[in-house]
Amino acid sequence: MKNGLISPEIIEKLTQIVGSDFIFTDEETRRNYGHDETEDYNFPPSVLLKPADTAEISAILKLANEHLIPVTPIGGQTGLSGGALSIHQGIGLAMERLNKILEIDENNLQITVEPAVITQVLREAVAEKGLFYPPDPSSQGSCWIGGNVAENAGGARAVKYGVTKDYVLNLEVVLPSGEIIWTGANTLKNSTGYNLTQLMVGSEGTLGVITKIVLKLLPQNQHTILMLVPFFNANQACEAVAKIFHAGIVPSALEFMERDAIDWTLRYIDGVNVEIKDEIQAHLLIEVDGNYPEILFNEAEKISVVLEQFEIDEILFADSEEQKNALWKLRRAVGEAVKSNSIYKEEDTVVPRYELPKLLLGIKEIGKKYGFKSVCYGHAGDGNLHVNIVKENMSDENWQTEIPKGIREIFELTVSLKGTLSGEHGIGYVQKNYMDIAFSKVQMDLMRNIKNVFDPNEILNPGKIFPDLC
Ligand code: LAC
Ligand code: ZN
Repeated sequence: MKNGLISPEIIEKLTQIVGSDFIFTDEETRRNYGHDETEDYNFPPSVLLKPADTAEISAILKLANEHLIPVTPIGGQTGLSGGALSIHQGIGLAMERLNKILEIDENNLQITVEPAVITQVLREAVAEKGLFYPPDPSSQGSCWIGGNVAENAGGARAVKYGVTKDYVLNLEVVLPSGEIIWTGANTLKNSTGYNLTQLMVGSEGTLGVITKIVLKLLPQNQHTILMLVPFFNANQACEAVAKIFHAGIVPSALEFMERDAIDWTLRYIDGVNVEIKDEIQAHLLIEVDGNYPEILFNEAEKISVVLEQFEIDEILFADSEEQKNALWKLRRAVGEAVKSNSIYKEEDTVVPRYELPKLLLGIKEIGKKYGFKSVCYGHAGDGNLHVNIVKENMSDENWQTEIPKGIREIFELTVSLKGTLSGEHGIGYVQKNYMDIAFSKVQMDLMRNIKNVFDPNEILNPGKIFPDLC
């Protein structure tokens, strides 16, 4: 039986491990670490610890395992599936003091970091050396690389460069037993046994605590072209996506924003002005990158030819770094803008990209059936659509009873299109009760058995990924 409430004796032992300056039991601190960016949830841990290093984390986990105390790793608190919520109380393990870039290896194009390095700080540190770490979640200015690894975060550049998993070479991990392991090797290729590194990526803090991360880097590209394309018909915007790839182009970003997403965001942020005609229903934000401007012009030209088959208005080509930054600021702020506008629930649907028009149409039909409005945006090139169901004037009762049914239908549609529940935000606390749509009992049992090998006492991030009744 897990024990989320912690005795004075345990507090004393934890204090000996981290020191009295780094253990907190006051209400305010616990609440500050009780939330991430998922809706308005707050699940404070019983005690919040700020360990200094791997050795302290190992000692904490060993103690927690002996006494069956839940432990929830807490990163940058920007997650969108509730992965960092201490829903069974216990120990909140704030990783913030493990925040160093340990090495940038320019000979091998690798970086070794601790988990609490802000993703943008990491990206800028390697950019100074002419290197490129592609994954760039919209929250890159505040999310941490450890959380990115735990959730297998994506972002806008994934369409060409892949997601976090494609860059993780090796991890130092503290297991629930307190043992410390490296999961693999610092090599680009590795066919040596089961892939423990990739098992850890996206495991949402349920198998081990990540304390060091070795990432692959690329050389930095010199040039980009960025265009904002207004569509008179939102579904045509989705149809255009697969056509661009069919024409032989792999853009470095291909993002979709429905009308409301862009309108709400323009009102929410300062300093970005884009004129939008009343009849415009959606936009694609398309980027190509490379080292040779003439090739990029050719690619942009080819994309324009594809787009001319659709009902579009004049394409806006960003003509300065300033304008490019403004358009990216607009795109990155959509999530926060929607959040500021209404109570909402966000789903992270993903389908093979050619199915995107069917997904968008289906979501709107399901919305009509259950009486909700949705605002959709996301990484169209990946077939990854963030569906924000907004409450607006819906009654609390309908919000509680009808919306889960609507979400279930959206996920059923997603899976019927050969997609799945989450492209990049993870399952965590809020999507776990929909896992039966994507996985059979046999598959869930395999996952449970894996969890059991790593964490037989289920102390690590309990209440995540696995459905309540399964
Ligand atoms: C985005 C986040 C919400 O795409 O994933 O903006
Ligand atoms: Zn996203």
